[in-house]
Amino acid sequence: MGVVRLGSTVVDEWRRFAPDILGMQVVDGLDGSLLLRMDERPYRIAIVPDDTDRVLASAFEVRDRKALDVAVREIEAAGVAVKHGTAEEAAIRQVEAFVALDDPNGNPLEIFYSQAVDGLQAQLPHGGGFVTGALGCGHVVLPSADLDAAFDFFTNVMGFRHRDSMAINLPNGASLRLRFIGCNARHHTIALTASQSPQGLRHMMIEADSIQTFGRTFARAREAGVLKTELGQHSNDEVLSFYLFCPGGYEIEFGVHGRQVDDATWLTRDLTQLSFWGYWPAAALGQVGAK
Ligand SMILES: [Fe+2]
Repeated sequence: MGVVRLGSTVVDEWRRFAPDILGMQVVDGLDGSLLLRMDERPYRIAIVPDDTDRVLASAFEVRDRKALDVAVREIEAAGVAVKHGTAEEAAIRQVEAFVALDDPNGNPLEIFYSQAVDGLQAQLPHGGGFVTGALGCGHVVLPSADLDAAFDFFTNVMGFRHRDSMAINLPNGASLRLRFIGCNARHHTIALTASQSPQGLRHMMIEADSIQTFGRTFARAREAGVLKTELGQHSNDEVLSFYLFCPGGYEIEFGVHGRQVDDATWLTRDLTQLSFWGYWPAAALGQVGAK
């Protein structure tokens, strides 16, 4: 996952929130968007002015032109429509070329190659760094009313690998089914969840480079009263993380020490617990979310 593009009604809130809480560098984009820089890339999250707070694209990166052409052929052969981005749209994204498509549940995706880089590291206001590189910028949750169709599309057409499944019992007695899939050594780049969400993605995960970066971010978020949960550790990727409320109703899982897997030896599991411990609702501890 190279980039996430988020539509936002409150771009100016992100302008303060991204550096102050998340510790990211903000840069103005060509089209009025706000670019959140985490590493040597021009941005990893684009906050795009919009009339609703909804995901515009989870954008996946491939090696080169040839890889994009192969991907388009395979996706079209599966009967999924692909739209080629214009030169102007590619320039806004700072990539050489990209295509856009919807997954079987209507989640917007993009595939691109060759992002413009200046060769410099991001100037992060609180220091530290993020785990990106070959692992991509994190993971997203894609609401998938038809979970089987989504799983089939991402594993058989998009080339993702099945890493784990999970069934969680909700407080209302219902059971929530999840499937975790990956495309690099990060345990999962996408979590497919059977729940429905009118706004699309509600959650993405980013990973700090150290306990110190992680802990300092947790402290800033706690101080600002934007924690959704306290600390916890998930059973699938074994990440140490917490959740925080972001402008416009988005949520970010901020983690550290996420598990990396080797497909040569990995065996998928069907997990019955979401976490080893933690994730107490922050509200119960006196924290109040921003939204
Ligand atoms: Fe997550």
